[in-house]
Amino acid sequence: MAAELIDGRAVARDVRREVAEGTAELTAAGTRPGLAVVLVGEDPASQVYVRMKTRACEEAGIEARDTKLPADTPQAELEAVVDELNADPDVHAILVQLPLPEGLDEKAIVERVRPEKDVDGLHPVNVGRLALGDPAAIRPCTPAGVQELLRRIGFDPEGRRAVIVGRSNLVGRPLASILLQREPFANATVTVAHSRTRDLAAVTREAELLVAAVGRPELITADMVREGAVVIDVGVNRVDDPSAEKGYRLVGDVAFDEVRKRAGWITPVPGGVGPMTIAMLLRNTLAAARRAAGRTVGAASPAGGA
Ligand code: GUN
Repeated sequence: MAAELIDGRAVARDVRREVAEGTAELTAAGTRPGLAVVLVGEDPASQVYVRMKTRACEEAGIEARDTKLPADTPQAELEAVVDELNADPDVHAILVQLPLPEGLDEKAIVERVRPEKDVDGLHPVNVGRLALGDPAAIRPCTPAGVQELLRRIGFDPEGRRAVIVGRSNLVGRPLASILLQREPFANATVTVAHSRTRDLAAVTREAELLVAAVGRPELITADMVREGAVVIDVGVNRVDDPSAEKGYRLVGDVAFDEVRKRAGWITPVPGGVGPMTIAMLLRNTLAAARRAAGRTVGAASPAGGA
């Protein structure tokens, strides 16, 4: 039996609508949520992301402020920009687009952003809070989006075996923290597999929830998947395809066509996890603005989001 498709575009649309409603309410009460996006350099993919983020903000009623800096911006200058945004009461959330051009100290910049404005959830304070189960943690957008997809399809991994393939700071590690939380749509038995894992297939076959986030095209094949598993594909990889208009096509970390025949649920690429990242960014921005206005609870809690 073919897996049911998880429509990330539809879920993201719902989240964005909810955020727009929350934003309208908060704006009417005197606080318009504001997100500052800082882009250093000319990386084409980053430019596309930033444009998409700005447009999504506008649609949701969030004030978007873009700062574009040349690739040779000195560290001190970038830090001064972050300091200014940290001090600006109209900016509730700051996102410095990664990766930064060579020569800039990414870690120092991530740590420079005030934790309560760190809408990416990458500051060590937020990482630590999440690891400790503190609801005040701001959670990274992509893993938060994965949990939101589980919520929307009604799959609660409580007590089940979840296997995450990939240990990146942006996805694998924070997702492991999220799925370990004592809360609905978490409470899983979590395994994080990575490039040194022996007999990866034996590990992934145990998974009732399998999340692939390694950036290796079609690494996960049908023989690695348990019958009926929920399969979430975070990977977005370009592979050459002369028959495609652009000369390439996008594939995930999961061999979609074959895995689809075994899984219970599966996310497509594109149109699965991808659209959730921006939706959760908007939700985190609204939550940060609400907290700044003294109106709420943690970004982490679903109720505290939109
Ligand atoms: N680059 C790719 N994804 C992201 C993200 O989620 N946040 C930031 N800051 N940079 C990125």
